[in-house]
Amino acid sequence: MSQSVTRPNNLNAFWMPFTANRQFKETPRMLVAADGMYYQSEDGRQILDGTAGLWCCNAGHGRPKIIEAVQKQVAELDYAPAFQMGHPKVFELASELCEISPEPMNHVFFTNSGSESVETALKMAIAYHRVKGDASRTRLIGRERGYHGVNFGGISVGGIVSNRKHFGTLLGGVDHIRHTHDIERNAFTRGLPQHGAELADDLERLVALHDASTIAAVIVEPMAGSTGVLMPPVGYLQRLRDICDKHGILLIFDEVITGFGRMGGAFSPDVFGVVPDIMTTAKGLTSGVIPMGAVFVRDEIHDAFMTGPEHLIEFFHGYTYSGNPVACAAGLGTLETYREEGLLTRATELGPYWEDALHSLKGLPHVIDIRNFGLIGAIELEPMPGAPTKRAFTAFLEAFERNVLIRTTGDIIALSPPLIVEKSQIDDLFGVLADVLKNLD
Ligand SMILES: Cc1ncc(COP(=O)(O)O)c(C=O)c1O
Repeated sequence: MSQSVTRPNNLNAFWMPFTANRQFKETPRMLVAADGMYYQSEDGRQILDGTAGLWCCNAGHGRPKIIEAVQKQVAELDYAPAFQMGHPKVFELASELCEISPEPMNHVFFTNSGSESVETALKMAIAYHRVKGDASRTRLIGRERGYHGVNFGGISVGGIVSNRKHFGTLLGGVDHIRHTHDIERNAFTRGLPQHGAELADDLERLVALHDASTIAAVIVEPMAGSTGVLMPPVGYLQRLRDICDKHGILLIFDEVITGFGRMGGAFSPDVFGVVPDIMTTAKGLTSGVIPMGAVFVRDEIHDAFMTGPEHLIEFFHGYTYSGNPVACAAGLGTLETYREEGLLTRATELGPYWEDALHSLKGLPHVIDIRNFGLIGAIELEPMPGAPTKRAFTAFLEAFERNVLIRTTGDIIALSPPLIVEKSQIDDLFGVLADVLKNLD
């Protein structure tokens, strides 16, 4: 990998997403190439990718099967209308995905991002109850600290304050159960925390308040990623499932991060054993190469829509780029790569090594918790008095100087390397991080 690039002479026009624009443009951090586990920075450094891009490049970078599939497809069929028309690759990809999805989730609806997958799932849930003759079930329940993308449905059921407070009154008819973060009882747990299954009972409180007959669905991330990596307490997801079943409420798992191998199986039900009714995905679906999302549903939900006159559209929803041929090709190339290299279960194999390396940081200055599961890790730092987020952001900048890309959210460092990571690279990652943490103010 070698790339020489001239820096654009005007950084002003591009309004960057989720970025401190003015600070970035003062001292830009540019990536110009990528291969395997490494990015290349503008100044020619090899940067170890500790975050799989943004939790998405699960197969690593510059993977031949994906590149080849995309190049071939764009030359053969660049675009086909998504409505009332089809093309072979979209059916092929849907079938392959349903081979690795949990039973009985045998139908998939394509979107272009995690946020769109979430909107799609929420709409499906409400429309499902309506087609079943239960039109009063419209209320949506999310969870505090949840992240479900940035569209209005997603931020309404989401629970990250800064993503909500700037944007008015959001969707009506939404409520939230409590989050599961509990450092006092669970700090430095390896794997799933022992304490907190009872927090699922908070759903019963909302059922008592609103009545189950008004509630369409509950949406949670099986592992809450963007809020700072909160693992589900042992027994928590099953308890949510049981309460949903008891009250006829649909359970949606937002697997945008947890899908495609991150937790050690294709999807979270493979490792946690709890199957939702609807599952939202994106990111690892194409290993981040082309934007694409997918919403999986149980047969029962799909079949409920397949009623009424056959010439009528069953679900008034879709995107111009739903199942775009080039995105489908990227998805197929990605699945082939996962299959050939056993990547969907690699996090289970590497998990113990990852866990030991991560927890070796216990005791370093400011570290108040460490959490892990599969190939995910989090290091929570004590915030600087009066300057929350600054300490972790400084760690991010220092790590980048030392050729390692990490991610921070609040005062939490989140780690999620591509699933091709080798043990020696895990050592490098934590070696640099230990150094950075030892020198942090
Ligand atoms: C759980 C979850 N849902 C939804 C999203 C939104 O995905 P996107 O940024 O592709 O819209 C994310 C992104 O990180 C996510 O982690």
